[in-house]
Amino acid sequence: MLGACGKTEAPVAASVTAPVESRVYVVGTDAAYAPFESQNASGEIVGFDIDVVKAVAAKAGIQVRFVNTPWEGIFNALNQGDRDLLVSAVTITTERRESMDFSAPYFDARQLIAIRGATEISKFTDLKTLKVGVQNGTTGDEAISKLQGKTSTNIKRFESTPLALKELEAGGVDAVVADNGVVVHYVNNNAGAKFRTVADNSFAAEQYGIAVKKGNTELLAKLNQGLAGIKADGSYAKIYTSYFGA
Ligand code: ARG
Repeated sequence: MLGACGKTEAPVAASVTAPVESRVYVVGTDAAYAPFESQNASGEIVGFDIDVVKAVAAKAGIQVRFVNTPWEGIFNALNQGDRDLLVSAVTITTERRESMDFSAPYFDARQLIAIRGATEISKFTDLKTLKVGVQNGTTGDEAISKLQGKTSTNIKRFESTPLALKELEAGGVDAVVADNGVVVHYVNNNAGAKFRTVADNSFAAEQYGIAVKKGNTELLAKLNQGLAGIKADGSYAKIYTSYFGA
């Protein structure tokens, strides 16, 4: 068994006090979700989530490497051990808690509706019979599936949220339902799209967490320790302000 229980082996790890663990944890993220995670011009993965996890890792004394991972397969990648943790604006939900474990929450979010300027809607239930674009398998998808019925042909599911928003611009859908931070960022950076946003307090409050494989309590403890550390020392607040203002 690879010496896992071999009594003849020296207890290496336990006796060495290195400030940083030598192992590099692989972080999965769907990097088409600015400002949380995206790829810059040189292909580097950047964003709020990335900065948070880098700071958490530094605090916890662990090393991380980010790997772009499509949302569609992201939870499987975690489950199969291809990724050690996920930071991808993942909302902590009761259903997801059944198949993975989450850190303490690190960000508050809520769904937000994007429409073309001229579309006359004022609340979520106005989308009951409209064509709505969402990223497949997200909490936005869950919300509209609940309103229209999961099999409604008026729900258009996209691989990424930017693709759904492009389709809104092209007129293929009447609205997009997605996380507020991403919608606001898109609207601010695509003035030409002439979108309007509609908030609705009937959307549930959501919180993002860092996900680990179910039962990986060791890594989870490190992440939570790091998270608590950066919240306490002001570095979380600095990162937050640099992306979202005071
Ligand atoms: N918060 C939403 C959810 O958990 C959407 C997250 C999508 N994240 C991403 N990087 N594409 O369902």
